[in-house]
Amino acid sequence: MSPQTATMTAPAVQPVFAGVQAPPVPAVVLRTARAGDAAAILALIDAHLEEGHLLPRTLAELTVHTSRFVVGVAGRRVVACAELAPLSATVAEVRSLVVHRDARHDGLGRDLVDELVRRARVQGVDTLSAFTHGPGYFVRMGFSLVPHHWMREKIAADCQACALFRRCGQSAVVLSLTDLGRGGRPVRS
Ligand SMILES: CC(C)(COP(=O)(O)OP(=O)(O)OC[C@H]1O[C@@H](n2cnc3c(N)ncnc32)[C@H](O)[C@@H]1OP(=O)(O)O)[C@@H](O)C(=O)NCCC(=O)NCCS
Repeated sequence: MSPQTATMTAPAVQPVFAGVQAPPVPAVVLRTARAGDAAAILALIDAHLEEGHLLPRTLAELTVHTSRFVVGVAGRRVVACAELAPLSATVAEVRSLVVHRDARHDGLGRDLVDELVRRARVQGVDTLSAFTHGPGYFVRMGFSLVPHHWMREKIAADCQACALFRRCGQSAVVLSLTDLGRGGRPVRS
């Protein structure tokens, strides 16, 4: 899929109740976020800040970095997002990975991470990282837990200025993009 090309993910479901066909549920399409998506991305992140221990974002920074985001769109509604944020020329980070509660358990989170992996490889990134309170989700996708000090780029870029530096509750996980399975997909358990 090219960065601008939409991909169909979940199939549309059309339940039938007592012979009456319900309105079709739109399939979720992945695409690169556009400037006009920034407010919807912010709303999605804000609605899941506490649950996901997510880094708070501002409309201003999201507007600047919109093109780094992949969004999942159902009809005109943004139901999922994830950002590929560079930390150096060869290391990037998955940020602000969110799937709306209504759209979960259908592989959308995995599809977003797969798409970030594909984009990272195109950009010459060899290590994809994430900092998370839920490392198990990433480990299932082939990431490995690593000590924080392995992530010098992240420490220099963000951690040293953080109020929780050295007492952070997050786990660092990394995926080597030079060691992927056939087809460039992470090897999953
Ligand atoms: C994590 C999240 C993105 C997964 O979205 P999703 O589209 O449901 O993901 P998938 O369909 O690819 O995978 C779902 C599976 O992951 C599992 N999972 C979710 N969070 C997990 C975690 N922290 N540890 C281990 N497994 C986890 C679910 O139990 C689910 O399994 P099931 O479908 O067998 O019940 C979504 O739950 C979310 O947005 N959470 C809030 C924000 C957040 O935590 N973001 C990640 C922070 S970096």
